[in-house]
Amino acid sequence: MMTPSQIRFFGTLESFIELFRGSEYSCHNEGSGECEKPPRSLKDPSKREREFLVTVYFFIIMDKSEHGNLVNTIQEVHDKLRKSLQISNDPNKVWDEHVREEEGLRNKYAKAMLKLATKVWDGKECRIDWSYKTCIDYFFCGGMERFLTREEKIRELESLSPSSRKKRIRELEVLKEKKIIGFSNTANHIKKQYLIKNEKLKLLDIGSCFNPFSKFPEFSCTAIDLTPATEDVLQCDFLHLKVQKTIDDESISKINFYEESFDVVVMSLVLEYLPASEQRAVFCFKAWQLLKQYGLCIIITPDSKSVHCNAPMIKSWKLALEKIGFKRVKYDKLTHLQCMAFAKVCRFSEVDITTCKSVADLLYIRQDFKSYVEDFPLTDDRSEEENQNICNQFLELPSGALFQI
Ligand SMILES: C[S@@+](CC[C@H](N)C(=O)[O-])C[C@H]1O[C@@H](n2cnc3c(N)ncnc32)[C@H](O)[C@@H]1O
Repeated sequence: MMTPSQIRFFGTLESFIELFRGSEYSCHNEGSGECEKPPRSLKDPSKREREFLVTVYFFIIMDKSEHGNLVNTIQEVHDKLRKSLQISNDPNKVWDEHVREEEGLRNKYAKAMLKLATKVWDGKECRIDWSYKTCIDYFFCGGMERFLTREEKIRELESLSPSSRKKRIRELEVLKEKKIIGFSNTANHIKKQYLIKNEKLKLLDIGSCFNPFSKFPEFSCTAIDLTPATEDVLQCDFLHLKVQKTIDDESISKINFYEESFDVVVMSLVLEYLPASEQRAVFCFKAWQLLKQYGLCIIITPDSKSVHCNAPMIKSWKLALEKIGFKRVKYDKLTHLQCMAFAKVCRFSEVDITTCKSVADLLYIRQDFKSYVEDFPLTDDRSEEENQNICNQFLELPSGALFQI
């Protein structure tokens, strides 16, 4: 089997055939101690073998370049939005123009994203699986009770003097060792009240693209997107969506969304589409409004670097979400992703949508600090390393260690 780095070095068709037949030969002779160089007759493929290898070669080359094209289409939209923002410094103007005038570009993006997610990443949906397993554990396997008990203990410890705190920590450790710590009464009570038996979880997928959560029977999904890629996704600009106070409110918008009506809100690979951090804050704030108390907000963001590299950014996002009224339940760094789950703990937020500048500043991404105006490289002028980094951000590989709280 050839590795991606080998594929990168294939070059011409002839060198590919030579490499393939050479490696095939040395594989067959592994450990035999026989001659290292294949005899001439083995290096020259028969007509049928050659035809087969030519097909494989073009399949690999086309697949590789198609993957690159799909990633480029996505990256170009993100870059364009960020560049426009740096020129005008007006997030509303940039967004309005994007919504009004760039439908063609958005449709191209939607098609590319759909293809990337369902054909290229097919079967390797780490982010979808992570979100699903997190919800199942939290709502059906004691995750919510565990989280609430932990929060209660933290509050109790924070209220104690340093010496009493030390004593209490020791007591708790002994109880833990003896395995006689269960969920707190409050946690059990909250959970009992929360879910009616056999009820499906109401899940809102913001920036859904193709409704990937609809395949799970535990969810009743509402999928929305500015530019839906499939028919089961509702067209909706979440930035301008009005969250209704109560079910009785007169609705102006075609789609009605009410405060505290969802168990799960998912924002997967969507916050980085928004060029301004203020817009990311609006997304997080509205997600909080729409969630029931103790409901779960799942945030997935691409990150191919090591876990420490973007740790300050992740810490900053955590702080932002806590300011809004969330507490983090779970965090995992996968190979190409940062995965976070937050529970809505407070029903009244410290901030509101009009004054969330302090939250916005915390919801930065690395690209906010890159100049897209001066020395802005066109796609064709990007170095191989830059292209590889971009590709990595959109690559998903399966990861074994998915689930530990
Ligand atoms: C990279 S795709 C992510 C798709 C999907 N969530 C996934 O994980 O595969 C980002 C999506 O967010 C959508 N989006 C961006 N801004 C939006 C907005 N204001 N309202 C609704 N959807 C938005 C885009 O149209 C795009 O389909």
